[in-house]
Amino acid sequence: MTGTVLVAGSHGTIGRALIKSLSDKGYRVVTVSRKAEKLAESDNHLAVELTEESSVALVGQWLKDNLIELDGVICCCGQLHQDGNLPEKNLKQLNQAWLAKSMSVNVVTHMHLAQSVAPFIKSKSRLRWLSVSAKVGSIEDNQLGGWYSYRMSKSALNMLVKNLSIEWQRKASGTSVIAVHPGTTPSALSEPFTKNWPKDKLYPDDVTANRITTIFESLTPDGSGKLYHHDGTEIPW
Ligand SMILES: NC(=O)c1ccc[n+]([C@@H]2O[C@H](COP(=O)([O-])OP(=O)(O)OC[C@H]3O[C@@H](n4cnc5c(N)ncnc54)[C@H](OP(=O)(O)O)[C@@H]3O)[C@@H](O)[C@H]2O)c1
Repeated sequence: MTGTVLVAGSHGTIGRALIKSLSDKGYRVVTVSRKAEKLAESDNHLAVELTEESSVALVGQWLKDNLIELDGVICCCGQLHQDGNLPEKNLKQLNQAWLAKSMSVNVVTHMHLAQSVAPFIKSKSRLRWLSVSAKVGSIEDNQLGGWYSYRMSKSALNMLVKNLSIEWQRKASGTSVIAVHPGTTPSALSEPFTKNWPKDKLYPDDVTANRITTIFESLTPDGSGKLYHHDGTEIPW
């Protein structure tokens, strides 16, 4: 055993692969998802809708009741398209309702999860937090434009991560908080956009999960407050 890791968004493609990767490495994995089904590798599972404010208390109570002491948290929650809402090609296609939905799933889920974990961080904590984000959320890296709602919400997630890294290091200098770009991985989220994607840049979910696990394991307080590519190199915010 190398500690207990909470995987949120456990029933997505990258979430499921991460649970396997982490448990293969000897971690105890506990999970949070909108779905009720407990996966085989999960030691404890909570079904909760992280977009809702009530989830903060529900997750906190679940951790307390089950005496779950976390060494790490990996939040996979994210959304790129749904019900015919596709990434915008231009300003005209951008609308308030889809932007709000994107912010809710891409940012608020991570925010509520952080709020539920925060009360358990004591001064000696070495908690490692990893938000699965996306390179397209990097403002500096944006050369193509488009995908307004996804880009804007992932940029907001990146700022949440940066702020969290600062606040939690003040509280407990041993903590580390980062965002990671997983690389293009076949999943429901990426499916409409991978047909013409170069095959050598389309990574199977187990490869992606092992890369994220490697980054998670090498996390130190010195490397906190950064956005990382799946190969471990830094991406400018
Ligand atoms: N696949 C790629 O090529 C790629 C590239 C760059 C970044 N990413 C990022 O990687 C992460 C995982 O994506 P994936 O490829 O595994 O896609 P996926 O299979 O579609 O999984 C979607 C994820 O988002 C969660 N989710 C969706 N709607 C939610 C909601 N309303 N409330 C809470 N959670 C919600 C799901 O959790 P539950 O179903 O368990 O509730 C699941 O973890 C996302 O943050 C995505 O932006 C993926």
